[in-house]
Amino acid sequence: MNVKESFLKDVLEGLSSEPKKLSSKYFYDENGDKLFHYIMAQPEYYLTCAEYEILQTHSLDILKRLHIDNGLRIIEPGAGDGFKTKILLESAMKNKYDVVYNPIDISPNVMNILCNSLVKSYPHLKCEPIIADYFNLDGKFPDDQNKKLMLFLGSNLGNFNNTETSAIMDRFSSELKQGDYFLLGVDLVKDPHRILAAYNDARGVTSEFNFNLLLRINMELQANFNLDNFIHFPLYNPVFQQAESYLVSKVAHKVVISGTTIHFEAWEALLTEISRKFTPGKIERLACQSGFTVLENFYDINRDFCCSLWEKL
Ligand code: AVI
Repeated sequence: MNVKESFLKDVLEGLSSEPKKLSSKYFYDENGDKLFHYIMAQPEYYLTCAEYEILQTHSLDILKRLHIDNGLRIIEPGAGDGFKTKILLESAMKNKYDVVYNPIDISPNVMNILCNSLVKSYPHLKCEPIIADYFNLDGKFPDDQNKKLMLFLGSNLGNFNNTETSAIMDRFSSELKQGDYFLLGVDLVKDPHRILAAYNDARGVTSEFNFNLLLRINMELQANFNLDNFIHFPLYNPVFQQAESYLVSKVAHKVVISGTTIHFEAWEALLTEISRKFTPGKIERLACQSGFTVLENFYDINRDFCCSLWEKL
């Protein structure tokens, strides 16, 4: 199945389920990437600044917790523009660590831009990009003497439900040997109003990001979503400790997607994303279930976010 066929299959499956849902991984076309960058610059979206602060303050502390005899291989699934990782790499370079950096992303273009800019800034850094979907990493890394540190930052794990989280963590864990490391960046539970505001910014950028998913389906899958029929409706569920984003249909109507008709009832909700929040206890349980032990949790000054450093058992 090619990329377009599996996009169509996922969309039709999601819209035929109850409640209707779409996978948030489809947010990220060119426009979605741009909108996500605007979201990260919104004052309500505290996550990016908090994680940036942790890496700026603690990169060297993180590196010092690692026992490295030879070199260090830093692996980053879903690296994107690597803008936070650069802080960790800079600290490693300044302190004369021998580093190979393997950013992993499905976009060759994104990987080229990242590696070119890194090698310009740090000529001694070995940057070896891997073009892959991070569910499919089998045998992508050489089995050498380098200790591995896998990074999964940016609260990316929060966008997966429990079952998906277990599957993804098992995948990552199977790529690491005993004594290798994992650094996980997750958002922490806090005042529900602040979390909700982060997913409902005053400028409406998150709303546009949410609607862009329908525009993408219209463009790529020959669909006829009328955006005026929906409202953006985010909420924070304090029991499940997750932000949830919905597009709610204001009227009963039909949408045709590549020849298949989907019916929406008036005020029917379509789930587009969950963003799960963590506690230190939840982090610890996740590490344990995935075959790791927590070495140390690093927090920003407000304790909004956590970068949790784990060792593989
Ligand atoms: C990419 N991910 C971690 C973001 C989040 O916070 O869940 C995506 C996002 N969705 C709306 N705002 C940001």
